[in-house]
Amino acid sequence: MTSVVPFFFGYFWKMTNIFTKKLLAWFKKNHRPMPWKGEKNPYLVWLSEIILQQTRVAQGLPYFEKFKAAYPTITHLANAPEDEVLKLWEGLGYYSRARNLHFTAKDIRDNYAGVFPTQYEDILKLKGVGTYTAAAIASFAYDLPYAVLDGNVFRVLSRYFGIKEPIDTTTGKKVFTKLSQELLAKKRPADHNQAIMDFGATQCVPANPNCKVCPLVKTCVAHKDDLIRQLPIKSKKMKKRSRFFHYLIINHENQVWIRKRVEKDIWQGLYEFPLLETDKLLDRKQLERNADYQQLLSPASMINRISAPFSQQLTHQKINALFFEINIEKPLKNPPEGWINISREALEIYAFPRVIDLYLQDKSLYLNF
Ligand code: ADE
Repeated sequence: MTSVVPFFFGYFWKMTNIFTKKLLAWFKKNHRPMPWKGEKNPYLVWLSEIILQQTRVAQGLPYFEKFKAAYPTITHLANAPEDEVLKLWEGLGYYSRARNLHFTAKDIRDNYAGVFPTQYEDILKLKGVGTYTAAAIASFAYDLPYAVLDGNVFRVLSRYFGIKEPIDTTTGKKVFTKLSQELLAKKRPADHNQAIMDFGATQCVPANPNCKVCPLVKTCVAHKDDLIRQLPIKSKKMKKRSRFFHYLIINHENQVWIRKRVEKDIWQGLYEFPLLETDKLLDRKQLERNADYQQLLSPASMINRISAPFSQQLTHQKINALFFEINIEKPLKNPPEGWINISREALEIYAFPRVIDLYLQDKSLYLNF
């Protein structure tokens, strides 16, 4: 009896070959012009990839242009103050990316003589650079044969090959890493990686992909077995935590107090108004009875206005925020450590989380009370 194994591998080899050929043919016809395409400067490749993590191209594009103009080389970025980098990043979210970007620029200035590393293993050692970003930099800047694996690639591969292994387990990651590396067009790693990312972002999209116009549809397992909506599979349902923030905008004449978030928590390095966090949103009376509030402010302090609730959705948390405009007659005698007193006009110099920017931009939304 003949073994089925060579047959299976032959079949698999053929499927992988067809996939790669069709993908590259699709890429040739569906070119999305973007300023970092064909870029060989590793600094600019790295910058674009950090900006594009968890960010849509349309949103990331103006940030890429702003950073490139403000910091034409990695040394310019390294020499900039962190507050300035965070201010330039304002609105893009996931601020640890900006802090790591700045850290790594200084690391390369100080420990690599300002020259971006050229080997995959060294690129991977940089702070803020995981396997995905290291493969992107290695392939785009240096034409090294490393396949990228991100959410787009998981989706495309799980659907095309009908893989039901969850993508968020160690085994799943191994299966997809091996497959994506096998599929890579080794002579054209940059084109291949850009092609699969673009294909995932524009054709094989998460919801309602238009399979009618897909050139890979004939050999797509998910399409044949009606599994497009089920794939890719995730094993864990992420629990989202709700948090309730009460921001105190303490006004004395034209001055307010702000502080820098330094603790290991969301928004490290950004600024905010003095914050009271509780396990539900408080109204005026409840806030005035709160012990922390009473410790900060005298009973004579006036809560002038309370905003409508603002919210911001983060990956694992939903932030619900109320803003209390408070007038005090005399400046705070003993403001807690780290609080700084600035004029209202100076607020625009500092980088704030999105929920505070939303409030500062739209103060028309006040609760009637
Ligand atoms: N997302 C992450 N990297 C990307 C790139 N190079 N092009 C398009 N989208 C991306």
